[in-house]
Amino acid sequence: MIVLDGKIASQSIKENLKTDVSAIIKHGKRPPHLAAILVGNNGASETYVASKVKNCEEIGFQSTLIRLEDTVEESKLLETIQQLNNNKAVDGILVQLPLPKHISEQKVIETINPQKDVDGFHPVNIGKLVQGLETFIPATPYGIMLMLEYFNIETKGKHAVVIGRSNIVGRPMSILLSSNIKRGNCTVTICHSHTPNLSEICLQADIIVAALGKPEFVKANMVKQGAVVIDVGITRVADTTAKKGFRIKGDVAYNEVATKTTAITPVPGGVGLMTIAGLLKNTLQAYMNNE
Ligand code: GUN
Repeated sequence: MIVLDGKIASQSIKENLKTDVSAIIKHGKRPPHLAAILVGNNGASETYVASKVKNCEEIGFQSTLIRLEDTVEESKLLETIQQLNNNKAVDGILVQLPLPKHISEQKVIETINPQKDVDGFHPVNIGKLVQGLETFIPATPYGIMLMLEYFNIETKGKHAVVIGRSNIVGRPMSILLSSNIKRGNCTVTICHSHTPNLSEICLQADIIVAALGKPEFVKANMVKQGAVVIDVGITRVADTTAKKGFRIKGDVAYNEVATKTTAITPVPGGVGLMTIAGLLKNTLQAYMNNE
């Protein structure tokens, strides 16, 4: 069994990006610029956005963090996005989700210029993904594809089971794995809360992608011997013995599942780090298209 270490894989991608930025600067050009908008002060979102900004700095990207109160009017947020759309010195825009209930996430996503939509959530970009056209692949599925590539995991002809159908992970992941691309060409089953016999379906999987957001949902008796397991879950579970008062749990019961697999991602230290690598690669791509 190999542990698909997101730290090693993302570090390698970040080193390459660093080299790309150095070459850009050497040519007397400005670095790529990512603008992130954080609404409110949700603890997990704060952590993710801080990590995105820190990673930008590490590889030499410019980053701007715009913080808005959780009471901000939707129109103000849309106006802020429009300003970033019009700012030629900004290559990529992301609005951290989830947003407060009074704001329409769909409206927000559709306001971002698709050419700056480094999260790949705009319907234009999702449409391109479905048609196999060049686009911004949503960062988490992109990160998983990069991980499969880094660790040379064969996907062609395999049966992949994706648990979860979110626009952010499950749905785009199922499209990528079934596409006629490197690390694609799987037969894909997508499972969700209305899927009967989920255990039986998982037992047929050569590759499982667990992206449903339920801590330790995937148990050993749902996994075929020799399967590859990708765990997208990052739920904060209260734990008074932990320093921060919580522990991060994946969607897979790692200890009992790992021994049955040929490869598995840990949580933390797996897919989460690859998500950032995917976002950074998208931002460089947006810059290249923009310049
Ligand atoms: N919330 C959870 N995942 C993501 C992501 O990939 N991008 C944004 N913008 N928000 C998220």
